[in-house]
Amino acid sequence: MSTTPVSELDLPFLGFSDNRSDRLTAGVEAARSSWIARGEVGYSILRYDDVVAVLRDKRWHSAIPLVIEMSADATPEFKLRRRESILSAEGDTHVRLRRLVAPAFSPRRADTLRPAMRDVVNGLVDAVAHTGRVDMASDICEPYPIPIICELLGAPKRDWELFSRWATDVLRIFDNNFRNDMPLIMAAQDELEAYVRGLIADRRDEPRDDLLTDLIAAEEAGDKLTNEELVMMVEAVIVGGTDTTRNQLGLAVDLLLDHPDEWKRLADDPSVAARVVEETMRLNGAVRATGRVASCDIDYKGVLFPAGTLVFPLLAAANHDASIFHDATNFDTGRRESNQPQLTFGSGIHYCLGAALARAELQEALPLLARRMPNIRRAGEPRYKIATAGIFGPTSLPIEFDPT
Ligand code: HEM
Repeated sequence: MSTTPVSELDLPFLGFSDNRSDRLTAGVEAARSSWIARGEVGYSILRYDDVVAVLRDKRWHSAIPLVIEMSADATPEFKLRRRESILSAEGDTHVRLRRLVAPAFSPRRADTLRPAMRDVVNGLVDAVAHTGRVDMASDICEPYPIPIICELLGAPKRDWELFSRWATDVLRIFDNNFRNDMPLIMAAQDELEAYVRGLIADRRDEPRDDLLTDLIAAEEAGDKLTNEELVMMVEAVIVGGTDTTRNQLGLAVDLLLDHPDEWKRLADDPSVAARVVEETMRLNGAVRATGRVASCDIDYKGVLFPAGTLVFPLLAAANHDASIFHDATNFDTGRRESNQPQLTFGSGIHYCLGAALARAELQEALPLLARRMPNIRRAGEPRYKIATAGIFGPTSLPIEFDPT
């Protein structure tokens, strides 16, 4: 079969927009007529099967290094300090890292943190339960994941505000605003690295029952993580495990505000939480796209993607693919007809390492919030991050509930 270079295809255009529903709706709309769309830079992959195919094809590499490289505003100093992370590593390097660290991120370790998760949620709700009014995004979702990450790593709880700020600032890399953000990003990277090096030194002297000790001990056939790799992994956990979870919780509550019957069901029967979490992540995912670059010429479905081509698999559009999810725009926690997983944790070799932990955090938080905040309703207009944010979610979600 002959192949057509992707640049010669007649494709719909899907550009950046500042309106959150526009961007998602535009992706879902475009997917009706084409599996691929052209953008300002690169191409968007729109349908479930194609998104999964790209993410599972190892010739497509993570685009994180390219995003930084392509930014006209990033200084040479900033570009030079880029260290390889598990998210951007490929080939044998990635396989080795993943094999060494995967056991430390098992569902079993996530389950040991469930009591701590309930304690944190209860503590946050205790402060507001009598008032019947709260900003869900800033008062509950924002602080929630940090003490859990502290507990996971064995870092002191009092340091949560530091972790929170570092995670927010380092993630500005994905916000397309290097000119303003670079000094903040660089300062956060430096502080975070110094902190993590101290933590690792402590744990080498005094092993404990925590993730950091597991990572230090991680060994297979005599192979161990180097100190540099340990620093990178801990940074990946702090950065990858905070802003994602807090925004996903906010988006889940945002959706549930329009489904009060489901909120009540969560309160009455916490066993539905796992299904509610998957369905809220499908319909309203915090990570709506990721990026890949062709490491060589790639021929897919009769289309030639020359080496260096940038594509964005749109996880959110794939999650709305009507050929996979019946009545795809409907919130339906009972959906069983599809065995296909929602894609907000990605797919393939970079599939979210913290998925078990994130699922546990959401499954613990939602039923507790529903029980302790009955009759939840909106108390003002929600505000959101810009639509192109790498991790999307509400910045403000004012709600009222019956005081308890
Ligand atoms: C609801 C919350 C979360 C969401 C939506 C999420 C989403 C994702 C996605 C989409 C990827 C793949 C990115 C790609 O393919 O380019 C990913 C990778 C990753 N996530 Fe998460 N994540 C969440 C929570 C967490 C948590 C709690 C942790 C850490 C404890 C974590 C650590 C990581 C790491 C280390 C990777 C890189 C894995 C690799 O490249 O092999 N994430 N996440």
